[in-house]
Amino acid sequence: MHTWSDIEQHVASCTCCPLSRTRHLPVMGRGSHSADIMLIAEAPGGQEDQEGLPFVGRSGKILDELLESCSLTREEIYITNILKCHPPGNRDPKDEEKAACFPYLKYETFLLKPRVIVCLGRVAAQRIISPDYKITRQHGTWTCRKDCALTAVYHPSAILRDPSKMEETKADFKEIVRKRDELLRGNPDK
Ligand code: URA
Repeated sequence: MHTWSDIEQHVASCTCCPLSRTRHLPVMGRGSHSADIMLIAEAPGGQEDQEGLPFVGRSGKILDELLESCSLTREEIYITNILKCHPPGNRDPKDEEKAACFPYLKYETFLLKPRVIVCLGRVAAQRIISPDYKITRQHGTWTCRKDCALTAVYHPSAILRDPSKMEETKADFKEIVRKRDELLRGNPDK
């Protein structure tokens, strides 16, 4: 897998785990292939499974509100998931599913080379940042790895369940833009 279209083709016909038998459509990441900010969530929901696109359901509307609050658009970022296929009933991804799907995320990250990675929710934060990540305590804090700054915020579906999380998540998104701008000022060449 050397190009975006290689990854897309592999994902489209993937049978690496049993979710390939229950999914309707796999959901490849979407957005700008030269984005500085990469958002990584957990797995496609039911609506995403039907349409083959990330964050098109109710949590997508919350995500759009968060992006708009800091003047970001979906066209200038890249959004993907740890799992490319919908787990039935929206259950948490199993370890073997995450392991089977991880090479796709690795290649997406390798090709994109983002300045900032934002994990949406606990599952992504525990897979990408640290296995014992506590989203309630640690959201909005930063870790550096190679040339990339990593953080996590509440998953949009957590905001749907508890709208009082919206304001602090908007504040986290403002910091994400500030961090991106700071990193770009330090080294504008990707
Ligand atoms: N929830 C996720 O984690 N990912 C999506 O793409 C949609 C909802």
